[in-house]
Amino acid sequence: MTLETYQIAVLIGSLRKESLNRKLAEALYRLAPSNLTLTEAAIGDLPLYNQDYDDHQANSVKQFKAQIAKADGLIFVTPEYNHSVPGVLKNAIDHASRPYGKSAWTGKSAGILGISPAPTGTSMSQMHLRNIMAALSADIMPQPDVFIQDDDFFGPDNMPRETKRDMLQKWVNSYAKWITCQESRTTGPEILLE
Ligand code: FNR
Repeated sequence: MTLETYQIAVLIGSLRKESLNRKLAEALYRLAPSNLTLTEAAIGDLPLYNQDYDDHQANSVKQFKAQIAKADGLIFVTPEYNHSVPGVLKNAIDHASRPYGKSAWTGKSAGILGISPAPTGTSMSQMHLRNIMAALSADIMPQPDVFIQDDDFFGPDNMPRETKRDMLQKWVNSYAKWITCQESRTTGPEILLE
């Protein structure tokens, strides 16, 4: 029996070169089981969202939206800024939600992860992101929650240290299993791509 492969768009909520969340996403690429193909959906070149341009979106927006529309699922790996989602990530979400009625997020199966130096480990950011994505009719993996504190989390190979790696491995395995049970990914509206 051949295992179905799921194309997963990874959204990283930090543009910082040395981003811990980017490192976490890169560790996921290495740990993901073979039924997931993880590809970054980059958000750094998107303009600031302006509703005036809904009917003539910039090429970068169209490309980003097309990437989301064609993905079977999403993984958000994001920091917490001032107890919420970083503006750059919210900007990207708003872009792909418009024009009204043509959102690319509907029915997507999404997992959320984050890492912070603080002990709360992005919990508030993740909860806000769950709210936002619920408004967009995406399905969010309910459990396991993973809020990571960067307490010497990464080893010299930029992978999580042995004891923490197991937790990340379990999370991505859970996501890989959960997405196979999701029917909604095939029932979203058709997105018309130019
Ligand atoms: C932060 N940081 C932060 N951390 C946290 O746990 N809760 C918070 O509310 C905030 N607020 C916040 C606001 C702003 C504007 C910045 C720049 C930072 C700290 C943040 O977790 C830390 O800088 C991370 O390293 C950012 O993630 P990346 O860039 O390393 O992925």
